Amino acid sequence: MMYGEPDMAASRSGGVIFERVSISFGDPSPNGYVKAVDDVCLEVGREGFVVLLGPSGCGKTTLLRLAAGLIKPDAGRITVGGATPRPGPGTGIVFQSFRLVPWMTVAQNVRFALGPLKLDRAQQRARVAEQLGTVGLSRFADAYPRMLSGGMQQRVALARAMVTEPEVLLMDEPFAALDAQTRELMQIELMRICAGRRASVLFVTHSVDEAILLADQIVLLGPRPGRVVERVAVDLPRPRWRYDVRADRRFINLRSHLEKRLRNLVLTDPQSDFFGRRLEGTYRGNPSRDT
Ligand SMILES: Nc1ncnc2c1ncn2[C@@H]1O[C@H](COP(=O)(O)OP(=O)(O)O)[C@@H](O)[C@H]1O
Ligand SMILES: [Mg+2]
Repeated sequence: MMYGEPDMAASRSGGVIFERVSISFGDPSPNGYVKAVDDVCLEVGREGFVVLLGPSGCGKTTLLRLAAGLIKPDAGRITVGGATPRPGPGTGIVFQSFRLVPWMTVAQNVRFALGPLKLDRAQQRARVAEQLGTVGLSRFADAYPRMLSGGMQQRVALARAMVTEPEVLLMDEPFAALDAQTRELMQIELMRICAGRRASVLFVTHSVDEAILLADQIVLLGPRPGRVVERVAVDLPRPRWRYDVRADRRFINLRSHLEKRLRNLVLTDPQSDFFGRRLEGTYRGNPSRDT
């Protein structure tokens, strides 16, 4: 399935659409600027889950910041629900570093996000309680972030991003700082939470497994300047936590295909930070196998 054409139906019903988006940043190099994103078309349906997969430095975070309305493109157009994106409670963002306020309790951290909404105290309390229930942290409402494990802190960050019931959820390598076990549990947690939500999710990772596990669609990005090199529909049945999805033939074939593509992208771009530093651990088997 291709997403080059703007889809007016998706736009009306609240999805995220990138139409031929490019952006450059000022840079001290002789060129004077660095092109971070080049001619990217993307579409996340109203309840779609799109994963951006690509090497470090290819513009993934930049694409999320564009979707959040934190920065504006030099060329092209981005719409969220048919309108230009603006930062605010309509968009939930989860970062790799949890970014919790250390002197606020779990409940206060989550309630903080409700600031811009016109809710009274009782409504705020109810929303926070419900959200902490969803992420399984009801018992920790009065704890401080330092008392929690990494996985629990990231669940607080997730609750904070979701408490405004945003139309759009932007997640930037949210589980990359977690240990493998916690990461797997958080992936299931996220799938479970998203199954009960009506939100468009744009999720960034450099993990092929994570991308396949979570996505409806995977958008593979090439090294700087970031551009789309391939789109893949993941048609594995949901809920994917109910069976051994990693053992599914489709999962295995897709992983093999994507790892090969990603590895080739990296190896043809020795300037990428991904080369050497992040290759280890992301790839399985012999790196020279299909190069
Ligand atoms: N505010 C900025 N100023 C200058 N360069 C930037 C800025 N933001 C990103 N870049 C550059 O744009 C490219 C893409 O960055 P980024 O979106 O963070 O990549 P990724 O998240 O895929 O690792 C990188 O070369 C980065 O150095
Ligand atoms: Mg990034």
